[in-house]
Amino acid sequence: MTTTKQEQLTPDEFIAANEAKVNKRWYPCFHIAPRVGWCNDPNGFAYFDGQYHLFYQHYTYEPKWGPMHWGHVTSKDLVHWERQPVALFPDHPYDADGCFSGCGIEKDGKFYLLYTGHVDLLKKPGQPDRIETQNLAVSTDGVHFTKSDKNPVIKLPVEQVSTGEDHHFRDPKIWQHGGRYYAVVGAQTAEETGQVLVFTSENLEDWQFKHVMAKAEGNQGFMWECPNFAEFDGHEALILSPQGVKPEGKLYRNLHQSGSMLGKMDYTSGIFYHDDFKLLDYGFDFYAPQVAQAPDGRCLMVGWLNMWESAMPEQADGWCGQMTVPRELHYRNDKIVTPPAKELTALREEAFAKPDMILTEETSFDEWSQETGELTADFDLTEARGLALHFAAGFDDEVSVRIEKESGEIVLTRKSAATGRAEERFAKLPAGQEKISVRVYEDRSSLEIFFNGGEVVMSTRFYPKTAERVIVLEPQEGSVRMKNGVFYKLSSIFA
Ligand code: FRU
Repeated sequence: MTTTKQEQLTPDEFIAANEAKVNKRWYPCFHIAPRVGWCNDPNGFAYFDGQYHLFYQHYTYEPKWGPMHWGHVTSKDLVHWERQPVALFPDHPYDADGCFSGCGIEKDGKFYLLYTGHVDLLKKPGQPDRIETQNLAVSTDGVHFTKSDKNPVIKLPVEQVSTGEDHHFRDPKIWQHGGRYYAVVGAQTAEETGQVLVFTSENLEDWQFKHVMAKAEGNQGFMWECPNFAEFDGHEALILSPQGVKPEGKLYRNLHQSGSMLGKMDYTSGIFYHDDFKLLDYGFDFYAPQVAQAPDGRCLMVGWLNMWESAMPEQADGWCGQMTVPRELHYRNDKIVTPPAKELTALREEAFAKPDMILTEETSFDEWSQETGELTADFDLTEARGLALHFAAGFDDEVSVRIEKESGEIVLTRKSAATGRAEERFAKLPAGQEKISVRVYEDRSSLEIFFNGGEVVMSTRFYPKTAERVIVLEPQEGSVRMKNGVFYKLSSIFA
């Protein structure tokens, strides 16, 4: 399908007029995706007035990146979602070329969005190619938003901080501490490496620059996009999406990275003292995650289940891009783990359980050969060198994960019949682990694989040419015991 740009229609009218034309062969059953057109980063993820709100970077008129709008969905339970009208679109001089990424927060019964207004400039030597500012929009009903007369409320403080020539300055994320608001914003140093700046406010409208909160050291990229300050289980982390980190052996093979640094915020200086950068997902497709605080205090996270400049075959079908399932952030054994949000079990319908069994050769089960669903199983590798799980479709396209017990290495392979290419990504569990649990969310064009309750996560898009699927379990040199093996059919997240 090719959608023609019809600027005379509002974004919502355009969606309504074109929704039926979308080819749904790869359209997700239980992931958030745009009805029509393009989406990238999750935005404004927050709980307001009894509901979760999730927005996303959205271009309605074509299934490719364009002047950014904010798509919007809401949910009472984090599982079943309702579509809402497009919340923001470029209509002011300060956001003329896009309402870029940002956050949402409740204050005094109102819902505030703080987002980046993006304006392109004609590049001239020695001058920036853009103006990026942070802008407020406010709502009383959580659906209709009015941009503040005070916009822009945060400008790049060039007189206080040295910055790269192009004045990258975007993706604000607010949190509260000690009766004040803090916002972290992605930026670039004068040396054109990534940094994040922290601002503070009493009322969300008047902001003061505090300090450079953290900045790149060594191979940590030329720009830090989508920073988040996250609090969970009594620990703190800076989550960021650095652009331009170079591959280091088996690490950082995607175009851009998303990861976290555990640490401690010093509110007096505005400096975040931190440990090393660690990826949050080791697969092919994960970017720009955003966190939200659940009413019960858990820290939730949603990411974009795509990667910039990767092939996105669903563009031919009139839509493009999807979110990950919501995940939780926890602290376990000095590390961040990100299991799927506990609410997701509410999606489970029919269950196909296997009794405790020993796998001695390649095995597949008819009931597990479904297009969408969730697989959970515990494996004991004591008597084998390892285990491979294959997710095959049409039996030419294949995603496999191989776990090697001795080294703890996990290799994710994605083979595409269309491109004839096989690519790999790597992750590590502690060496020698014999008991490994696996949980997989399989949707029409994606797989999210969680090992040991989110100790390692690997996510990937996957474009089978047919709806025919099979899951194959393959013990490597020996036999593997499987316990609690269940495949669940999952219901759709939209009514
Ligand atoms: C990250 C990003 C953000 C920006 C948005 C624009 O994927 O580049 O930095 O706000 O996408 O769509």
